[in-house]
Amino acid sequence: MNELDQLVQAAQADFEQAAAPADLENAKARYLGKSGRVTELLKGMAALSPEEKKARGAAINEAKQRVEAALNARRQALADAELQAQLKAEALDVTLPGRRRGTGGLHPVSRTMERIEAIFGSMGFDVADGPEIETDWFNFTALNTPADHPARSMHDTFYVEGGHLLRTHTSPMQVRYAVQHVKQHRAALEMGEAIPEIRVIAPGRTYRVDSDATHSPMFHQCEGLWIGENVSFKDLKSVFADFFRNFFESDDLQIRFRPSFFPFTEPSAEVDIAFSSGPLKGRWLEVAGSGQVHPNVVRNFGLDPERYIGFAFGMGPDRLTMLRYGVNDLRLFFDGDLRFLSQFK
Ligand code: FA5
Ligand code: MG
Repeated sequence: MNELDQLVQAAQADFEQAAAPADLENAKARYLGKSGRVTELLKGMAALSPEEKKARGAAINEAKQRVEAALNARRQALADAELQAQLKAEALDVTLPGRRRGTGGLHPVSRTMERIEAIFGSMGFDVADGPEIETDWFNFTALNTPADHPARSMHDTFYVEGGHLLRTHTSPMQVRYAVQHVKQHRAALEMGEAIPEIRVIAPGRTYRVDSDATHSPMFHQCEGLWIGENVSFKDLKSVFADFFRNFFESDDLQIRFRPSFFPFTEPSAEVDIAFSSGPLKGRWLEVAGSGQVHPNVVRNFGLDPERYIGFAFGMGPDRLTMLRYGVNDLRLFFDGDLRFLSQFK
């Protein structure tokens, strides 16, 4: 093997040894750099005759090309290896199951609320909303509830600082809404003209010191109020019949008024329903309190109870949700357990 072949072999071995691009560039300098071995050989030709120069020059150039080829091959190999390493590090297993973004769903009680609003809306009822932190006046006094009434005790009501309380029912919305309505039609009232009927529902959260399978300290109610010059219990019954048949999508349903007492209605009735078929067949279930609005309350609305009359009711959407979906413990709705809630998506 001649001297040039040895040089090429040495270069190939050196390049092969280089583990990183920087090492390779150092090895390159040893052969092709300014004072590299190939460069030195070319310089050494100066003393040769023209004939010798031609032959020697061709041989050195051929060796130089082989060194350069080895260099480029190694450069490419190092670049490929780097790319492979990077691909491996960033490997993506497209066969793994994806991480899905959880899709939410409406809470079952919210679904009930929406149904209630839609059905009463279709019967011409407005939907109103009001504060959950109430004054004693709206929650009790304006509703003809005397100071010594048991509902006002600490056993039943959450009181907050500043003499306020968490509303124990949605009934304060009767007064808030009616007063607003009367204000809007004050001019007509002062002229002794009839004003438009009040027809409203007010769904929302309510609070009581209460906790068992059918009572939660925070629960929902939906108030209803219909006041006009000629609104009677007959209308209340037909409103309930329409509502419950729509809500439960069943005509197999009976409604019964059971005499009861509320300070703000006279007469008063609990509303019970019973299904004529299905798993709940024949059982009477209390779904609302109701009654003809008491004259003292009508007066607190700012209306003359001799002229304006009507009814109010308060139902429990949580219990309606239990009936609709066959849930036997109300607290499940408010525990926030996704295994339970995701069944309603
Ligand atoms: C009332 O709260 C009256 N304001 C209803 C009313 C309005 C009567 C207008 C007349 C005129 P009662 O306390 O019965 O009434 O509650 C009404 C409904 O709320 C009950 O039938 C029940 O469905 C629901 N409810 C009451 N307490 C709870 C509770 N702790 N958890 C869940 N639901 C409840
Ligand atoms: Mg009741």
